[in-house]
Amino acid sequence: MMKIAIFASGSGSNFQAIQDEIKKGRLDASVELLVCDRKEAFVIERALQAQVPVFSFNPKEYGSKEEFETEIAEELRKRDVELLVLAGYMRLIGPTLLRAYPGRIVNIHPSLLPSFPGKDAISQAISAGVKVTGVTVHFVDEGMDTGPIIAQEAVSIFQGEGAEDVAAKIHAVEHRLYPEVLGRFTKDVEFDATGRFTRMS
Ligand code: GAR
Repeated sequence: MMKIAIFASGSGSNFQAIQDEIKKGRLDASVELLVCDRKEAFVIERALQAQVPVFSFNPKEYGSKEEFETEIAEELRKRDVELLVLAGYMRLIGPTLLRAYPGRIVNIHPSLLPSFPGKDAISQAISAGVKVTGVTVHFVDEGMDTGPIIAQEAVSIFQGEGAEDVAAKIHAVEHRLYPEVLGRFTKDVEFDATGRFTRMS
C-alpha cells in the first residue's frame, strides 16, 4: 500500500475523490496526512471526517518557506510518506520539499499545460476564447506548473458557458483522472537509485 500525503488549500473535492476511491478498495493507498496552508479551509473538515491526520499552518507565522517546509518534511518523514499529492495547494513547493521528495511530488492543474499555468486557469481559458481546455497531472519541479506531464484530458468549452459550467466539467474529470493516475503509481512504478519514480506508462 502506497503512503501518500495530500496538500490542499481549499474545498478539497479532489481530496474527497481520492479518499473515496481508497475507501471503496479501488486505490491501494493510504492518506497518511493532509497538509493545509489555510486553517479555515473546508478540506480540513473532510480530513477530520475521514480520520486523516491534519497538519495545518499559517505561512505568515513563519519567517520563511524553508521554515514551514522543514516542519512539513519532518511530519512526512515520521509517517513514511512516499508520494506528495498536490490537490488545489495554491503555493509553490520550495527547495526543502523538492530535495526531500525528488521526483515524488505530483500536482493536478485545471488546464492543458503548458497553456494557462498559475491561478484562475479556468477563467484564463474562457477569457482567451479557447474551445478546448482540460486537466493535467504532472510532476512538480521548481517552476509554476512546469514539471513533466503524466496525463492530460481535454474538456470542451461550448458557446455561452461560464466559469462555473466549465469548472463543474473540469472537476468531474479531475475526480476520475487523479485517482486513476495515482493507481498507476501503485502498479507501474519502480524507483531508481535516487528514489525517483521511473517506468510510467
Ligand atoms: C482543482 O480544480 C485543481 O485543479 C486546482 O484547484 C482546484 C482545487 O479544487 N489547482 C490549481 O489551480 C493549481 N494551480 P478542490 O479543492 O475542490 O480539490
